[in-house]
Amino acid sequence: MGRYSEMSGFYDVIMTSGYYDYPKIVDGLINGHPVANVLELGCGTGLIIEELAKRRPQTAITGVDLTPEMLAIAQDRLSPFANVKLFQQNVCELDLHAQHDLVFSYGGVWYFVVQKGHEPFMVSHIADHEDNLKGLEKLAACIAPGGRLMLGTQGPHFNYERPISNGMVYSQVIEPTEIGFTKHYFLDDGARRVMSQTIHYRTYTFAQACDMLKPWGIEFDGLAHHHDEGGMFMGFSKS
Ligand SMILES: C[S@@+](CC[C@H](N)C(=O)[O-])C[C@H]1O[C@@H](n2cnc3c(N)ncnc32)[C@H](O)[C@@H]1O
Repeated sequence: MGRYSEMSGFYDVIMTSGYYDYPKIVDGLINGHPVANVLELGCGTGLIIEELAKRRPQTAITGVDLTPEMLAIAQDRLSPFANVKLFQQNVCELDLHAQHDLVFSYGGVWYFVVQKGHEPFMVSHIADHEDNLKGLEKLAACIAPGGRLMLGTQGPHFNYERPISNGMVYSQVIEPTEIGFTKHYFLDDGARRVMSQTIHYRTYTFAQACDMLKPWGIEFDGLAHHHDEGGMFMGFSKS
């Protein structure tokens, strides 16, 4: 179910060594628009929320994540921000009793892989199909009528290894599976392997993803930004 327990202690150093560009993610997310209340699904260690909270101190921001170790780091990081609330929850059983004008996920529970010349496809951290349906229903219930859903985009995944800022070497290995792919994440300190984590991802075609969101009044609104053109999110509106 996409737990990041093994990776949590190294997550920030890997991500801030060039894996994600957090200021650019937040530029793509708010894009100059006013937002009163925002929910991030799969907020991890809170790196996006921190950037957002600094820029928008008046916006009520909620973060949800499944992995307690990730959320503990987010709690520490975000304790200076009175406008941020965090909850440890699985999106498949999401229970917030609140609606938001913007719900988003970046590299979190659901995201899109976008590559020029190819149909985008959706990647889910949730391997079971029924759980995906439950999660998307819960997600929809958290969006106010007229509100938006933004799901992050990433370029195609591939195997590589590269040094990170603390001198360790990060590597990833991707294996196709019947339901999508499996990704192995590793961190090595010289000859010593300090982190090893495997996540089983399920993938959906763009049409399947739209069909799963449609019953809840959520439709792709054409505001897609191609990842390789610098866009960071696919946008959906809720009627
Ligand atoms: C790659 S991290 C992204 C974190 C953050 N959005 C960022 O950009 O740094 C994915 C996060 O999704 C969370 N996640 C995966 N499945 C989840 C689920 N079913 N419910 C809630 N969170 C989930 C994981 O615990 C992990 O922290």
